[in-house]
Amino acid sequence: MSIDVSDLKNFQVIDHPLVQHKITMLRDVSTGTNQFRALVSEIAMLMAYEAFRDMPLEDIEVRTPIETCMSPVISGRKVAIVPILRAGLGMVDGILTLIPSARVGHIGLYRDPETHEPHEYYCKLPDPISERPIVVVDPMLATGGSAVDAINMIKEHGGKNIKFMCIIAAPEGVRKLCESHPDVMVYAGHLDRELNSIKYICPGLGDAGDRIFGTK
Ligand code: PRP
Ligand code: URA
Repeated sequence: MSIDVSDLKNFQVIDHPLVQHKITMLRDVSTGTNQFRALVSEIAMLMAYEAFRDMPLEDIEVRTPIETCMSPVISGRKVAIVPILRAGLGMVDGILTLIPSARVGHIGLYRDPETHEPHEYYCKLPDPISERPIVVVDPMLATGGSAVDAINMIKEHGGKNIKFMCIIAAPEGVRKLCESHPDVMVYAGHLDRELNSIKYICPGLGDAGDRIFGTK
């Protein structure tokens, strides 16, 4: 039986019909690399539209062809998008389409195939990270180990205002991430049933990194 996550206040499924439709196409085993990449990017853009609805605004003066008025623009430091390598890279372009001025950091983590524990191999974040809104992206939230470690690393570097966005989440990973980082809002495109014995998400979509980069 799958784990209940309905009590978690910092978890939201972005279940827009366009997101749901594109996730179905993503799951399909017959979807090839080209289309898979395009879908990941489109879903990331649609999800970011919703996840960033709390962006701060400030009024500036603008002269229209008719008159001058005050009108809002996004304020504050530029957003940092931080993909977890490799698969998170597939979500960056879609978000940059919406927020072209965003900075991009990178965190390198891989899951050990035997223990399923994450191992860190790279971390480079935009400076200063402490004042920026940060969105950590990875298509898959399985056990939650990679996401928890990535956010630990960002916090060690001073990051404070952090969101996490994934396309498919397992209840196990959602609970672990939300409880480890209650200050981080976690967004998923779909909450799947469970993890299997080798910690893959069911029904899931297989190995996101391999499907994005065509490595299998
Ligand atoms: C996948 C996925 C996540 C991680 C999720 O990456 O992209 O980063 O597994 O699993 P977890 O929630 O159990 O930590 P993987 O380690 O396979 O590396 P890759 O992106 O290089 O393929
Ligand atoms: N990583 C993936 O790419 N897929 C899964 O189902 C679990 C972890």
